[in-house]
Amino acid sequence: MSRAANDPGSTSAVTEFSAPAATAHYLAEPHEVHKVVLLYSGGLDTSVMLKWIQDHYEAEVVALCINLGQPDDDFDEVKQKAIDLGAVASLVVDAREEFVRDYVAPAIKANARYQGSYPLFTALGRPLLAKIACDVAREHGADTVAHGCTGKGNDQVRIDAVVATLAPELKVIAPVREWGMGRDEEIAYAKEHGIPVSTTVARPYSIDDNLWGRSSEGGVIEDPANAPPDDVYELVTPPTRAPDVVEELRIGFREGLPVSLDGEELEPVELIGRVADAACRNGVGILDNIEDRVVGLKVRDIYEVPAAEVILTAHKELEKLVMTGRENALKAELDLLWAQLAYEGLWYEPLLDSLNAFMNRSNEKVDGEVTVRLYKGSAVVSQRTSPNGLYDQALATFDADPTFSQNASPGFIELFSLQSRMAHQISKGRSQG
Ligand code: ARG
Repeated sequence: MSRAANDPGSTSAVTEFSAPAATAHYLAEPHEVHKVVLLYSGGLDTSVMLKWIQDHYEAEVVALCINLGQPDDDFDEVKQKAIDLGAVASLVVDAREEFVRDYVAPAIKANARYQGSYPLFTALGRPLLAKIACDVAREHGADTVAHGCTGKGNDQVRIDAVVATLAPELKVIAPVREWGMGRDEEIAYAKEHGIPVSTTVARPYSIDDNLWGRSSEGGVIEDPANAPPDDVYELVTPPTRAPDVVEELRIGFREGLPVSLDGEELEPVELIGRVADAACRNGVGILDNIEDRVVGLKVRDIYEVPAAEVILTAHKELEKLVMTGRENALKAELDLLWAQLAYEGLWYEPLLDSLNAFMNRSNEKVDGEVTVRLYKGSAVVSQRTSPNGLYDQALATFDADPTFSQNASPGFIELFSLQSRMAHQISKGRSQG
């Protein structure tokens, strides 16, 4: 692209008609695109994209589908579909363990909930998708990474930023952001090119999911004035239909991470799955949320976050027991900051790395067990034990005890309230003239 096109001082007649310069260095110019790694889900957008990239850029496409524990994807089918649509290679990567170890685990230690509510499952997954796409691009000698994000969401921010950070030599294309096709045109394109559409188009909402949660957006729930219809929930049983009995889960933690369920040690992916199943049965983990996107939009999401709801609740409770009041107060603020950076896709921001150091250090003592009662949509902690708990039955009791001197309290209170008492007297004097 000619820079002169944007230069008000330019008098060149030729540049007047050239397309505007790319708005970012990492965006691919058409002539740079020869071999593309496409983050492929098997859905309508990325299937149309698979064909469109081949036509539009005359480029080869390597389809890359990544398993982050999305509950009902048939990965063999997705893999074959990409081949049928002309991909030169079609890969399915099972990244569940890495996802839990390097993305969900730090989020648990940081009690990560964006703006205090959304447990960030999509935001945690995107940097991993982008990282794997970079690795695959290098292995396959590709020059470009393609993804199916729109220009209005957070996911474009997360993927573009990570690709540009980790692989400055690669370019990015995001066809949905630039091709200007509406839903109907996409369906027409799909039919014309033999892309199966039936099941995907029937879905009234835009869904994203992985083992840490599921989101629904768009359709009638786009308007926050509308109550969500029952058909939104595909994971969690609506609380009114959940069983009439309490189900208890006893979760064991070591250094801030869940390691056992009801005394049985489990691998992290398995543990999260079992907690999710119990929570789903009991209507736990439904969240109807207003949130602020990175690009400024305010949106409404319906979240189903069964595992995250239970595990984050239990983890935070254990922190309350083992950390000092000062630690807990500061940590709550740093937790919010952690969630903000993760939401914004700034996964390689050094501040996040420093925050992780704090989260790891402060979680070294977060050992113990927390029992959570699941009942018709609620998850309430009923028991907590820890070898590192700062709670001492002997100190807290109302009975007489020799180690805590109640006689020392009045002297403490006199000094403790000193400045506040002085300030009150002075302000009283001022208002009385
Ligand atoms: N609002 C959530 C986020 O930004 C969920 C987004 C779901 N993504 C999607 N492509 N539907 O993390």
